[in-house]
Amino acid sequence: MVDQSQSAFDLEDRLRRLNEIGVALSVEHNLTVLLERILLEARRFTRADAGTLFLLKGDHLTFEIAQNDTLKSFAGGTHGKMDMPPVPLNKESVSGYVAVTGQALNIEDVYSEPVYRFEGPKNYDRMTGYRTRSILGVPMKDHEDQIIGVVQLINPLHPLTGEVVPFSAQDQSLIQSLASQAAVAINNVRLIAETEALFDSFVQVMATAIDERSPYTGGHIRRVAEMAMAVAHSINTCQEGPLGPRQFDEDQLNELRIAAWMHDIGKITTPEWVVDKPTKLHTLFDRIELVRTRFALIEKSIQLERLEKQVTGQPLPADFAEEYERRLQALAEDLAFLERANTPGEFMQDADLVRLNQIAGQTYVEGGQQRPYLSENELKNLCIRKGSLTQEERQKINDHASMSIKMLAQIPFTRKLNQVPPIAGAHHEKLDGSGYPLGLKADQISLQARILALVDIFESLSADDRPYRAKPMPREVVLRILKEEVERGYLDRDVFELFIREELYLKLDEIKARMAAAPPTSQDA
Ligand SMILES: [Fe+2]
Ligand SMILES: [Fe+2]
Repeated sequence: MVDQSQSAFDLEDRLRRLNEIGVALSVEHNLTVLLERILLEARRFTRADAGTLFLLKGDHLTFEIAQNDTLKSFAGGTHGKMDMPPVPLNKESVSGYVAVTGQALNIEDVYSEPVYRFEGPKNYDRMTGYRTRSILGVPMKDHEDQIIGVVQLINPLHPLTGEVVPFSAQDQSLIQSLASQAAVAINNVRLIAETEALFDSFVQVMATAIDERSPYTGGHIRRVAEMAMAVAHSINTCQEGPLGPRQFDEDQLNELRIAAWMHDIGKITTPEWVVDKPTKLHTLFDRIELVRTRFALIEKSIQLERLEKQVTGQPLPADFAEEYERRLQALAEDLAFLERANTPGEFMQDADLVRLNQIAGQTYVEGGQQRPYLSENELKNLCIRKGSLTQEERQKINDHASMSIKMLAQIPFTRKLNQVPPIAGAHHEKLDGSGYPLGLKADQISLQARILALVDIFESLSADDRPYRAKPMPREVVLRILKEEVERGYLDRDVFELFIREELYLKLDEIKARMAAAPPTSQDA
């Protein structure tokens, strides 16, 4: 017989271990590992040969982890998903009974148990050749006394003889205590996972909203995010070259992913018509329509002037008709020139700007008032030499980077994500310090931000269509531009060389094909 001081020592020792287990469980953030650990510790604690852990999901229990030392059978968790049917919530199984009643169940011998007739263990024995004797089923109850699952332990072994013995009352109360701690740990992990999933989907909804604002760049953010991850994974697997020693851990990968999803968040404040300004005169609509209407009016007024002169009966110069024909012809040519100038495809030469100014300097009469052929603002827009944006509009677009930084600064990122704002905010920075918005230099730009900068430009140049570009730019031209950006000291050479060597640019075609096959929804991870 064990003396009392020895048993008090045992209890103290077990309580100390229970406490240690509780602490260990509370720091485990991977649910699969946590569930495995709970069952393992509960078995160690009671020297149970086998055990099963169930979670309550809706109106049934699911098998999550099963361990059996004698059969050397380990399933669920890190050993892969268990292919077992769910257990209904009724009193016909040990786990069901425990979940329904909320009471622990301690059975000395399942075969000679007079009160409960559980067929499950016997069926299991028939299938496996195992001999289940004693079972301890304990509910896992969280801080609100809600049952979230069941721990079922089988066949505790005597520490000296190795024989199967019944679970003691002390075993039961200690396992009940462990199960409560386990429930709290499970709930914590679930809560963190739910919060992360919520944040993730919020980030993606925002990104989708920004992407959807432009029919031309739709899906840009999603593609940039996927490309950035492809480059990061490639850095992790590459062993040679300057990037060989660089490794991103899970948290850093996640940080880059979120940063990529958020990099253009500031575009939410960019006026819609600037985002994709298709023509130089475009605001909410293309003002070339106004110019056309005005020129039609000018044409009419020239014709009216001609008719008025004809009806006065006064002698007309010999070249009267030709002069008016010439004026109408010149007007038509001017309009055709303005229509061409309005499209941003071609570079405007000095002579073009002189002609624009000449046209704008002419006047016509409307409502008794002299009016210019072109307003000041129309002239300014048509004089844009390259592209469709004025300086101010270009600045508005560029402002999205500083707006991204401003917006991200307001989000209380967790410690694991605290590099998201500097990574996302630096995607238009250049290594030589000539980028925006902060003009950061190479040593202030992280590798993650360099990846983002490269894939952002690559994706933008590879767009299928743009308002000012009739055809997609050929791949070799895109890559040549990237190379030039490297040579100029804008983009990271190592990342670019990896991009070429590993043919990471081909990933974009895969991503586009996938997106075309299944248009993204905000539910996608
Ligand atoms: Fe951007
Ligand atoms: Fe971007």
